[in-house]
Amino acid sequence: MTLENDPLAALWMPFTSNRAFKAAPRQLKAAKDMHYTADDGRQILDGTAGLWAVNAGHCRPSIVEAIQKTAAELDYAPPFQLGHPLSFELASRVSAMMPQGLDRIFFTNSGSESVDTALKIAPRGQGSRTRLIGRERGYNGVGFGGISVGGIVNNRRQFGTLLTGVDHLPHTHNLEHNAFSKGRPQWGAHLADTLESIVALHGAETIAAVIVEPMAGSTGVLVPPIGYLEKLREITTKHGILLIFDEVITAFGRVGGATASGTLGVTPDMITMAKGLTNAAVPMGAVAISRHIHDGVVDGSPDGIELFHGYTYSGHPLAAAAGLATLDVYKSEGLFEHAASLHGYWEDAVHSLKGKRHIIDVRNMGIVAGIELEPRPGAPTKRAMELFHKCFDNGLLVRATGDIIALSPPLILQKSHIDEMVGRIAELVETID
Ligand SMILES: Cc1ncc(COP(=O)(O)O)c(C=O)c1O
Repeated sequence: MTLENDPLAALWMPFTSNRAFKAAPRQLKAAKDMHYTADDGRQILDGTAGLWAVNAGHCRPSIVEAIQKTAAELDYAPPFQLGHPLSFELASRVSAMMPQGLDRIFFTNSGSESVDTALKIAPRGQGSRTRLIGRERGYNGVGFGGISVGGIVNNRRQFGTLLTGVDHLPHTHNLEHNAFSKGRPQWGAHLADTLESIVALHGAETIAAVIVEPMAGSTGVLVPPIGYLEKLREITTKHGILLIFDEVITAFGRVGGATASGTLGVTPDMITMAKGLTNAAVPMGAVAISRHIHDGVVDGSPDGIELFHGYTYSGHPLAAAAGLATLDVYKSEGLFEHAASLHGYWEDAVHSLKGKRHIIDVRNMGIVAGIELEPRPGAPTKRAMELFHKCFDNGLLVRATGDIIALSPPLILQKSHIDEMVGRIAELVETID
């Protein structure tokens, strides 16, 4: 046994520069509504809903109580060949929020598992349809399926050959055409036509599914160009290819309604979700699957287990209880509508950063903004990381991804919170080199 004096040594932190963090740790000890409390007692305005997840704000009493009550009543129930009422009830409630037809729900524990679940369902036993198409710069979690269809280079390059038979659409980021677009940019719908070339190259009959984030968040907020998602839907339908929208970030009010699909009026065949499903209070993910696909697999299989897939914690009672309480909060407080009523104010506020030092683009959709900084010569990503640290030290949590600062606060925000976030960024971005 090795004994170490350093209490931070044992934990290998995810997606973190471990050495830098442990040299200068920043820790959180509590949270309430729009704020975290840092371990030194400072209040930090949460500009990121944790990690795009705490849409109803922190430590909401009804969600806390639902988790506590369930933990004391039914701590766990195996989900294979057994059930419990909360998971059935949550599935019905989620299914009612999905676009028409996507009314079958499979529970997972994370966004990554939701993506890998959708990718495993996609071939539907149709022999030749095995290929998957993702998109450059896409973030679809960290399972082998997700990083294979994903397109963030650093998330892929350490991990071997990944899944075979995967191709990628081009990403839609283009500052020359779209810098400082408000909402969906005008330019870029034609980029969906590349799917036709990929289909021509491989043959439609070899392709199971295309997966994209309707609004790409983690890669730095890439808003879909007007007409782009519609084109993807048109081309996939024409060729009998499934379309999966990865809505792990965009579901549950982030860009308007319950889903980006519903808000934008483009219905895919499957939707992956997580995060806002339980307000992040207990880990949970889900896949909404079109009834047609579900019935094809379930009714088309011989007697016995129809899908050899699932998790020990699928539909966990605590997660299901948190999910039900979360959906109640969204509904009873009209949170999606409240957030939507602030979209215009949010857009004007974040775009007021145009012209500030280092800022080369601002983009927005729903209650999300991406503020792109010019990379520091020879040291890409450093500027945004420095701004992240400065913001934290001055009471604001933002997210740095590459050279982009992403904002996605809880949907309970008020105009004063927006003013505070934008004001602080405006002030602090002037202070970094
Ligand atoms: C679009 C998308 N898919 C999948 C994931 C992975 O989710 P998780 O970290 O819960 O596995 C994320 C996480 O941010 C995401 O943004």
